[in-house]
Amino acid sequence: MREDLAAVRQRTLDLVSHLSTADLERQVDPLMSPLVWDLAHIAAYEDLWLVHRFTGAPLLRDDLAAVYDAFETPRAVRGEVELLGHRDALGYLERVRERTLDAIDERGTDPVLHEMVLRHELQHTETMRQAMRLGGLLPPGEPAIPPVAGDDAWLEVEAGPFAMGAGDDVFAYDNERPRHDVDLPAFRIARRPVTNATWMHFVEGGGYVRREWWSDEGWAWKEEYDITHAADVAGGHPDAPVCHVSWFEADAFARWSGARLPTEAEWEKASGRLDGVGLVWEWTASPFTGYPGFRAFPYPEYSQVFFGDAHRVLRGGSWAAHPRVATPTFRNWDLPQRRQIFAGVRLADDPEER
Ligand code: AVJ
Ligand code: FE
Repeated sequence: MREDLAAVRQRTLDLVSHLSTADLERQVDPLMSPLVWDLAHIAAYEDLWLVHRFTGAPLLRDDLAAVYDAFETPRAVRGEVELLGHRDALGYLERVRERTLDAIDERGTDPVLHEMVLRHELQHTETMRQAMRLGGLLPPGEPAIPPVAGDDAWLEVEAGPFAMGAGDDVFAYDNERPRHDVDLPAFRIARRPVTNATWMHFVEGGGYVRREWWSDEGWAWKEEYDITHAADVAGGHPDAPVCHVSWFEADAFARWSGARLPTEAEWEKASGRLDGVGLVWEWTASPFTGYPGFRAFPYPEYSQVFFGDAHRVLRGGSWAAHPRVATPTFRNWDLPQRRQIFAGVRLADDPEER
């Protein structure tokens, strides 16, 4: 675990090593945090869980707890509040890490807490990449979304039950548990994610102009913000998965295709046989809710407070997501209008004969 924590930290520091202090400290987009917020938040989260909660020792910087708590200081205000600057954020990361390692020397590691904190840092480097893309700050070679071989064939999945969610023998977030049987009718799911080329057919066919494919909510959002396809779509490789589409757009696209979005149960059941997983998050039709028997662990703000019909589930993973986080049972979620995340779409449909 010590080596893993060190490797993840190096990866975080490498991500921002080419950035100036000014770029780290400015809020590049009102939807995103200044990058120094993420850095100090990573430190605060580690101090909370791997020092304070793990050993009972007081926080290193009790005075910073509120500013770096995602709920007490939401994204919208992170550009206005006083934050640690570049150097101080890096110093905070270092000093917390010394405390974490001392605690490990004394007490060893907790299989859940240490893994959770490690994955938290990995998740934040994806969030940071979202901000960096909006600010034109990604390092050379990124984004890295290669074309996916193959064609748009359907994979036919037979009716029947499968075990959904994470087993007890692996680390998983509370929202992936408990594992439970789900019985699904037969369905088909696309072998590969929708490509930029196919998305451009939708665009050229009036996808953003014609009303009939859009939900009421989606159309209202599109009209209000004058939404059309993201620049990345026209500029990307034709056979690469489309990226930066919102759920509203994905939903309209699916209707245009004569198909639909997969439910997350369908996605998970088919996941072992899909091509191109892990390049872009894949929107599902499913709202983010708790599985039957859900219990919040270790804190309700990780997922429970987001349950309801506001957020949609995304599955798979993106080029910016570390594979250690993006497992086949991992559930990501976001609001249906969000398009700064690295999200695309994979279609599903009912079998022909039904
Ligand atoms: C799982 C990506 C939706 O960014 O809100 C980061 C991950 N949780 N810090 C988010 C998370 C706490 C979460 N997502
Ligand atoms: Fe966080």
